[in-house]
Amino acid sequence: MAVHAGAISGLAQEDYTLIEAEHTRLRGTIDNLRDTCRNLETTRGCSECSREKLGTCRGRLVSFFYNIMDFSANHFKHEESIMGRWSQMNDECADLHRHQQAHRDILLELAALVGEGVMLDLQGSTAHAYRRLYLGVGDLFEQHERLFDDPFIRSTSGGASR
Ligand SMILES: [Fe+2]
Ligand SMILES: [Fe+2]
Repeated sequence: MAVHAGAISGLAQEDYTLIEAEHTRLRGTIDNLRDTCRNLETTRGCSECSREKLGTCRGRLVSFFYNIMDFSANHFKHEESIMGRWSQMNDECADLHRHQQAHRDILLELAALVGEGVMLDLQGSTAHAYRRLYLGVGDLFEQHERLFDDPFIRSTSGGASR
């Protein structure tokens, strides 16, 4: 589909706002992991924590697993729908396909991290599960934003005027 130069346009402000708000929320969730486990940035386990504290951590870990998977799947859907509209306007779909594949890969890696976290928690290493999730999820998203989300936003004309 040939696109007239006049039809090429950047993303709407609300599209940027949505993507950025979701990235901020995800960073908030990752920070919550760090703030929940007192030993996340040490190599200590849970033996110094009270039974009540450990109970809270174990309960919240299950919510983190669910929230991270659910939130990521929804965020990727939103991003892909925004990118799909932009790709149609600009007759560009190769980057979209690579980006979609990257999202699918992340969901698989997140599922593997959750699986590891469940096993660590069941083995009594709840702090280790928090540490693994915090570092793993943080790395995955930091790398994805750097390699995919940021270049996409920069490639749209509206990105320059933010
Ligand atoms: Fe994103
Ligand atoms: Fe993305």
